[in-house]
Amino acid sequence: MVTGGGGFLGTVVVRRLEAAGATEIFVPRSHDYDLRTKDGIDHALSDGDPELVIHLAAVVGGIGANRENPGRFFYENAIMGVQLMEQSRLAGVDKFVTVGTVCSYPKFTSVPFREEDLWNGYPEETNAPYGLAKKMLLVQSQAYRAQYGFNAIYLIPVNLYGPGDNFDPKSSHVIPALIKKCVDAREAGADHIDVWGTGSASREFLYVDDAAEGIVLAAARYDDAGPVNLGVGHEVTVRELVTLIAELTGFTGEIRWDASKPDGQPRRAMDTTRAQEWFGFMARMPWDEGLRATIDWYTSKHGAGS
Ligand SMILES: NC(=O)c1ccc[n+]([C@@H]2O[C@H](COP(=O)([O-])OP(=O)(O)OC[C@H]3O[C@@H](n4cnc5c(N)ncnc54)[C@H](OP(=O)(O)O)[C@@H]3O)[C@@H](O)[C@H]2O)c1
Repeated sequence: MVTGGGGFLGTVVVRRLEAAGATEIFVPRSHDYDLRTKDGIDHALSDGDPELVIHLAAVVGGIGANRENPGRFFYENAIMGVQLMEQSRLAGVDKFVTVGTVCSYPKFTSVPFREEDLWNGYPEETNAPYGLAKKMLLVQSQAYRAQYGFNAIYLIPVNLYGPGDNFDPKSSHVIPALIKKCVDAREAGADHIDVWGTGSASREFLYVDDAAEGIVLAAARYDDAGPVNLGVGHEVTVRELVTLIAELTGFTGEIRWDASKPDGQPRRAMDTTRAQEWFGFMARMPWDEGLRATIDWYTSKHGAGS
């Protein structure tokens, strides 16, 4: 069972599982199974009868969406995960894979982020409710392994990007938001775009197919309590990112920084040693190529000339 299997990451995870030979994959969509409720979870577990649960369902978004929905992002992510793991254990599921988030890391910690440093401080404020709700599922996984011998593992992907991402400006993450801004501005002949923050923050981005591969490898090969980062080990500043997206989309106007808006976490980059050593995962997609594929997907889908 892949919760959130119809979403951006979930669609690719399902495709990878199929490619790996999985024949019965159950995806409980939210319109049929509301996983915030115990009823929805019970029905999903009873209809899917899974041996393995990969839990991707979540409410997610960029800084703006996190700032507007701290209560909802905390409650829905916490309640879905906590109840689903408990009911899965009671239903006799063999293995439970939780997909956490880089937003769980402390705001200030040494870079690249190592799993050992996960508890060394409070996350960046704008995404703390989301990040901490998901982080509690790590505690739950470890507690359930210790008390019940439940095989729950916990993965921490860095920011994702790729074809199929969410381009809705109200909830999109930084890459789709910037692609849309640049494409819209180019088509409208605008002489500038406004971008949140100062451009000095750094981020790391993992191509969605790579993330899916990491999840499927961990589901097959990793059975232990320690959290594991899924990243690439390649850090870019938001300024470099905007410049590259402008270049690839053909937007030649001015980039104006709105420093009254938050930068979010100052730096983000992952130490990827554990994933490589523990289950043989290494990201493969070259950065420029992944970005180009994402832009091509967006422009072809939206009928914009490229
Ligand atoms: N995107 C990133 O940059 C990123 C980075 C790190 C970690 N992650 C994690 O990766 C996972 C997938 O993220 P994503 O970007 O693929 O998000 P997404 O496209 O928004 O997918 C999330 C899915 O969750 C499902 N969902 C939400 N509320 C639900 C409910 N009440 N009941 C049942 N299903 C519900 C939705 O299913 P329906 O489509 O059926 O409504 C949706 O397809 C999340 O756990 C997220 O925290 C994402």
